[in-house]
Amino acid sequence: MAYELLTLERHDNGVAVLTLANGKVNALSGALVAEIDAAAEELTDSPPSAVIVSGGDRIFAAGAEISEFGGLDEAKVIGPEIHAAFDRLAALPCLVIAAVSGYALGGGCELSLACDYRIAAERAVFGQPEILLGIIPGGGGTQRLARVVGPSKAKEMCLTGRQVKADEALQIGLADEVVAPGELHRRALALAAEVAKGALQAQAITKRVIDSGLSTSLNAGLALEREGFVEVFGTDDSQIGVASFLAHGPGKAEFTGA
Ligand code: COA
Repeated sequence: MAYELLTLERHDNGVAVLTLANGKVNALSGALVAEIDAAAEELTDSPPSAVIVSGGDRIFAAGAEISEFGGLDEAKVIGPEIHAAFDRLAALPCLVIAAVSGYALGGGCELSLACDYRIAAERAVFGQPEILLGIIPGGGGTQRLARVVGPSKAKEMCLTGRQVKADEALQIGLADEVVAPGELHRRALALAAEVAKGALQAQAITKRVIDSGLSTSLNAGLALEREGFVEVFGTDDSQIGVASFLAHGPGKAEFTGA
């Protein structure tokens, strides 16, 4: 599909790079959210080995397009659309890395939270400023932020709208790594390339079990892990990995992704 508000590149190693390109602030208009959803669908139908989500240089994404807010009727449409797009991205069966170069506010922060791992440039700023507009996060922020930084910090951020700089984001677990701005894309590509040559089926099962387990009880999550542990032995890479270990020691397996 041809996109107008984002680009989707596929690299030879299977890594896909989705970059928002909606003007200066990457406001998440309905049209951009629809393109993110379409891109996530394209990636679901033809799964890459890893995904990088990035935005603008100074502004990763400034949140929902505020001019599209109207009243109750608009809210009934905007909420489900943004949830559907971000859920589809979050459910991709591979590592999804957010490369956050600058402001990730509102829906921008929520987009990064729909990713599995956030690499932030030193100048990155995260925040859920919706409360300053008299509204609440609508792109998953109340739920995903609380799961990442814990309920108290999520409440403090969402109830005050306070912005969090990269060093604090790292400290509270909102950013997983902080790098110099010039290193951001190199580091994201290196991590994506590392996982791309790994046991992709096992990675997909691991991600699915972690994510499903987090929304259930410990016992139910452990049951999911037992099922996944059986499932993974049906993959070619489990045979390759075990045989390679026995013949050559750890870390030498050349996986096929099957
Ligand atoms: N929706 C629509 N327009 C937005 C926007 C958004 N989420 N965020 C910024 N803009 C617009 C501004 O209105 C401004 O428009 P103008 O040039 O026509 O005046 C333009 O983008 C640049 O914004 P400005 O605030 O002047 O730039 P800045 O560099 O000083 O600050 C931000 C950038 C992103 C920090 C700041 O614009 C901001 O805080 N945006 C709102 C974030 C927000 O509340 N998001 C949650 C939405 S629910």
